[in-house]
Amino acid sequence: MQRPRVLSGVQPTGALHLGNWLGAIRNWVDLQSDHDTFFCVVDLHAITVPHNPARLAEDTRTTAALYLACGIDPERSTVFVQSHVPAHSELGWILNCVTPLNWLERMIQFKEKAIKQGDNVSVGLLDYPVLMAADILLYDADLVPVGEDQKQHLELARDIAQQRINSRFGSEEAPLLKVPKPLILSEGARVMSLTDGRSKMSKSDPNEGSRITLLDPPELITKKVKRAKTDPVIGLEFGNPERPEADNLLGLYALLSGKGREAAREECAAMGWGAFKPLLAETLVEALRPVQERYRALRSDDGQIDAVLRQGRERAADVAATTLRRVRDGLGFLPAR
Ligand code: TRP
Repeated sequence: MQRPRVLSGVQPTGALHLGNWLGAIRNWVDLQSDHDTFFCVVDLHAITVPHNPARLAEDTRTTAALYLACGIDPERSTVFVQSHVPAHSELGWILNCVTPLNWLERMIQFKEKAIKQGDNVSVGLLDYPVLMAADILLYDADLVPVGEDQKQHLELARDIAQQRINSRFGSEEAPLLKVPKPLILSEGARVMSLTDGRSKMSKSDPNEGSRITLLDPPELITKKVKRAKTDPVIGLEFGNPERPEADNLLGLYALLSGKGREAAREECAAMGWGAFKPLLAETLVEALRPVQERYRALRSDDGQIDAVLRQGRERAADVAATTLRRVRDGLGFLPAR
């Protein structure tokens, strides 16, 4: 029996933060034991908004190194860079030609990002979800671990595979593409901003104090926690809609202390912010310490990370080539001889 295949990815824009770790990568680590896991750094997605060419390569290496530092094991997982496997762009083009424009125009994330970009919206930003569909469909992924915000993109990938490729160009017995399912991650899946408990921790928030990155030094973590938004109430609690900051920070403490929600709730039920914040800061520092140590060791010699990415590219390219051949044949292209 083949293990179910999983594919996911994160963009190499700026350092990964607690939300990426707790919401995504930490779950990827667990999936490795009983799934066939593919994790890519989606650098082609990073250029859908204006990017800095002087940083792209470095950010791509950093992101891959952080995957490994968080516990992604290159012996068990295929770790690679999206642009190193040209099949992503190629399948992306083919899928473009069968995807209705209005399916893309109604994507919530596009509408939000387009508003932020003002009059500088690229075709690539609109097309982002089609490339994401190609990422997933190339690997015959069974499951795609994503946060809530990516659910609509995954639905789109399913619709493209089923309605636009399989039903038009495949047969019932021999579908051209596997239709993937989302794996919506629950606990810790939504880490909120430190400066606003109602919005998600995000790389694109201009206020750096809103997030803790995996590479923040201990003093900076302590400072950011000290400045995090609070409220005038004493005692931490979960689930009070008036107190999103309390819910978020107590949730982080429960998760990262390893104590769990019930024990954390009891411990902090009568605790004021002045006592809680240093406790949380120390917990964060300790939880990130091993990740940062592994990261530094990996980055002491970029040959290591480059070798992992080379091996990943080879494995990924093999799988991708097989899928792409099936699609090309199905659509009637003349094979290269
Ligand atoms: N759009 C995803 C995000 O922002 C990143 C991504 C690109 C992705 N391609 C993917 C996630 C394929 C899962 C599978 O989180």
